[in-house]
This record gives sequence, structure tokens and C-alpha cells, in this order.
Amino acid sequence: MRLYRKEFGYEIENVARSFFPYLEATDEDIVESGTEDCITQEVRDLGSSLEYYVRCRYKGIEKSSMTLVPKDISVNEKELKVCRGVYDMLSDLLGKAPPWGVLTGVRPAKRAAEMLMSGLSENESISKLQRDWYVSREKAEIAVESAGASIRTKKLTHPGSFSLYVSIPFCPSRCKYCSFVSKTIGSSYSLVDPYIDCLLRELTYVQQIVSCRDLKLETVYVGGGTPTSVSAEQLETLLKGMTGIFDLDSVREFTVEAGRPDTITEEKLKVLKEYGVDRISINPQTGNDRVLRENGRFHTAKDIENCFAAARRAGIENINADLIAGLAGDDLESFKRTLSWLCSLDPENITVHSLTRKRAATLRELGEGACPDVEKMVDYSRCFLREKGYGVYYMYRQKGTVDGLENTGYCKEGRECLYNIFIMDELHTIVSCGAGGVTKLVDQSSGKISRVTNYKYPAEYIDGIESMLERKDKIDVFYAEHPEA
Ligand SMILES: C[S@@+](CC[C@H](N)C(=O)[O-])C[C@H]1O[C@@H](n2cnc3c(N)ncnc32)[C@H](O)[C@@H]1O
Ligand code: SF4
Repeated sequence: MRLYRKEFGYEIENVARSFFPYLEATDEDIVESGTEDCITQEVRDLGSSLEYYVRCRYKGIEKSSMTLVPKDISVNEKELKVCRGVYDMLSDLLGKAPPWGVLTGVRPAKRAAEMLMSGLSENESISKLQRDWYVSREKAEIAVESAGASIRTKKLTHPGSFSLYVSIPFCPSRCKYCSFVSKTIGSSYSLVDPYIDCLLRELTYVQQIVSCRDLKLETVYVGGGTPTSVSAEQLETLLKGMTGIFDLDSVREFTVEAGRPDTITEEKLKVLKEYGVDRISINPQTGNDRVLRENGRFHTAKDIENCFAAARRAGIENINADLIAGLAGDDLESFKRTLSWLCSLDPENITVHSLTRKRAATLRELGEGACPDVEKMVDYSRCFLREKGYGVYYMYRQKGTVDGLENTGYCKEGRECLYNIFIMDELHTIVSCGAGGVTKLVDQSSGKISRVTNYKYPAEYIDGIESMLERKDKIDVFYAEHPEA
């Protein structure tokens, strides 16, 4: 399916993508073949209003929508009207109603938070999301629940606070579904020591800037990749270095993504505990050993159980576990077994990701081969985890997610991961160090965000470290220009 974009093309593309995940969009003019599956747009000026005409041809059937839009309403209102017209037309054509309706952005909870902040009650916000944005009742409820956690977290956050992300883009092997920037550690081992040296230089440089500006470090997140892919000695060099650079005693949360059980050892857990890490991830993705193997993860569910036991013995009290709904080879019954098995391990956080077809991943080449039950899995996980006492505390959507579904963070009461809320709801600045890091400078008064990007890959990051440091000066410039941020 090809979309010929015109006015509001980007918004229409997002709505259409929830019906056609492999949609291609182009700004080129239409080359009418008469048979191509395509969506086309035309706008006619009728004086005081505009007529938006959108037509879709799919498998020989044609449908169209015509939306009359007064000129004197805001751009957002115009956009919403046109998107609803397109949604109705595609729903009619395909006989399905994607549950996020025309709320297509990455952060649906942000819209819900705006509604709550404007004085609407939870129920009124849910109704508005259903009525104006065509969101299903269930999705509206999780958006509002997540928005509530965000508002509570925001109240506890000081102006001038920030979080730190430290990237360790190495993994023991490449999982088939993944397209995160990450190098296989076996073939890149010689890069790890110089990488950690550069990282510590960058962290030192950042510390000098933030301390001059009197910024307060609130949470730290070491992610990847799989940070525990490096050796216990390298992990210690990094964490010891970090504790020498920043005052980590006062941070409210210190996460290290341990992720793959085939990288976790008693020795590394001891190092994590010794340097104050108080939250880690141990990620099964699925509890089905066959599905793990088919997706290129060389560990078993039993390994996950052993890692949980070892982490608890090491004194780690806050563990997150990531799952993916819709992995190739998985099905609803196996996913249900995964959830009850995982709950028996009693993690404080569970994050349920909907499979994303990422361009760079091998999965993309597998085409439509992914499991067809993703929506049912996602719905089941919400009901099941709620019964088990887990509430929604953050959520987001990614481009390319199967059926436009969301990723949802669940937690036991009082165990929200602050970092996840800060980054997802853009509540304060996140300074990112290391390869692939994207620093997001948030002006809390206007909500405006400026970005500073690092080189993507470890080798170019190491070679370009001097220019990485120079780029970090933009943090200083930002706070000079936005003293209230
Ligand atoms: C950056 S990865 C790091 C996690 C760690 N390396 C591991 O594999 O356990 C964070 C999470 O993203 C999720 N993820 C990765 N690729 C995905 C995909 N294609 N679709 C949905 N979720 C994905 C996985 O649940 C993964 O645990
Ligand atoms: S899912 Fe984790 S371990 Fe697998 S390739 Fe991606 S980042 Fe690495």
C-alpha cells in the first residue's frame, strides 16, 4: 500500500499505518496506474471551508472519505477531523478498528495528562479519548492510568533536576527481532576498554557542566545493548569511575540493564550492589525455550529463574523483566504461560513490549511471519497483571509496532521506575553519554526540547570523542539560555 502524501500527510500516514503496517509513503506526485493499492488525497478550497477528499484503493475495492473543514478552526482541530474521516473509511474498507483510533503519536499518555491537568476527571478524560480520538475504552483507561503516575512523579521533581543515561552498546549475540544499535561483544571485545575510557571522559566533562549550572542528578540508567556483557572488572571500572565523578549517593534510582541471563554472574551482581545499583532488568522476553531459540536468544527460562535467585541473594530488591508480545513462533497460550511463570518469580516491574517490525532487524525480512495474536496477548497481559496487583505506570508506542499497539510498564505499588517516566513523559532533561546517546534538554516551563546526538557506533564514538565532548557544550548553552529550565 502506498500513500501519496499531501496536506496533513504525516498524520494521515500514521492513521493509515495502523491499518497497513507496511505502508509506504511518498511525497511524489501520483502516477495513476489504475490498479495500484494506494491512498490519495485532494484538497478543494470552497471559500469559507476546505474539502478534504481522501481515496483508498485496496485489492480492487475503492472507498473514499470527504471531510468538510471550516477554515476558522485551529490546525489541530482540522487535523483531527480529517484523520477521523480517514479512520472511518479504512475501518469500513477493512472491517477493523485499531484500538488507538486516531491517537497515533508515540506518547498517548501525554494527551491524557493534558486532559487531567486541564481539570477533567479520570472518567471525563477516558470519555474524551473515546469520543474525540476514537480510542477504545481499554486503551483510554491505560493512557489515563499512566498519565496519573506521570503527574504524581512530576510533583516530586525539582526544577533543575536531570537524569543520566549511559549507553553500553554491546551484546553477547544478536536477537533476531532487535535493531537496537549494539555490537556483538565477541567480535568487538578490543573496543570495550577504550570505549569505557571514553565514556568516563565524557561523564567527567558532563559533570563539570552540570555542577556549574547547579543541576541535580535524580536518576541514572545504564542501558544498551546489554551492559552486563562486559566483564566484571570492566563493569567495576565503569561503576567505580562513575561514583568518583558524580555524587551517586543522593540519586533516587540507579538502574543497570542486566538483560540477558547469559551475561549475569554472581561476581557482576556483587559489583552492581557494591556501587549502589538498586534496580536491574533480567529479561526473559518469553518463558518458552523454543521461541527463545527461534529468535536467537541462547538462554532458557530456567536460566532466568537462576538469575532472579542470584540477584535476590545479592540483595537486589528491585527487578524489572521485559517481555515481548508477538515473537515469531509464539502463541496466545504460550504467552499466558509466560505471564504466570514470570509472576511466580515476583518481579517488581514487568514491561510488556508489542513486537515492532524494525527495518534493520532480520525479522523484517521474515515479513508477516510474526505471531498473529499480539493484540490478544497485550489485552490479556493487562487484565492478568492487574489481577496480580501490577498497575500501569508508563507507556509508549513505537513506529512499526504490530497493529499500532503499545509498550506498557507495570509495577507493584510504589515501584514505578522514575527514569522511564522522566524520559517517556519528557518531564526533565536526560543527558545521554556513550555511543547512540541522544541528550534531550527539556525546558520545563515551555516543554520545548533540544537534542544533542552522539555518534551511533562504538568505533566512531571512540574515534570522535573530542567532538562528542565539544557537542556536550550545547548543554551549557541551553541552560544559559533557559535559566528556569
Ligand atoms: C534495548 S533492549 C535491551 C535489553 C537487553 N539487551 C535484553 O535483551 O534483555 C530493551 C528491550 O526492548 C525490547 N525489544 C527489543 N527489540 C524489540 C522489538 N523488535 N519489538 C519489541 N520489543 C523489542 C526487548 O523487550 C528488550 O528487552
Ligand atoms: S534484545 Fe537485547 S540482547 Fe538482544 S540484540 Fe537487542 S539489545 Fe542485544
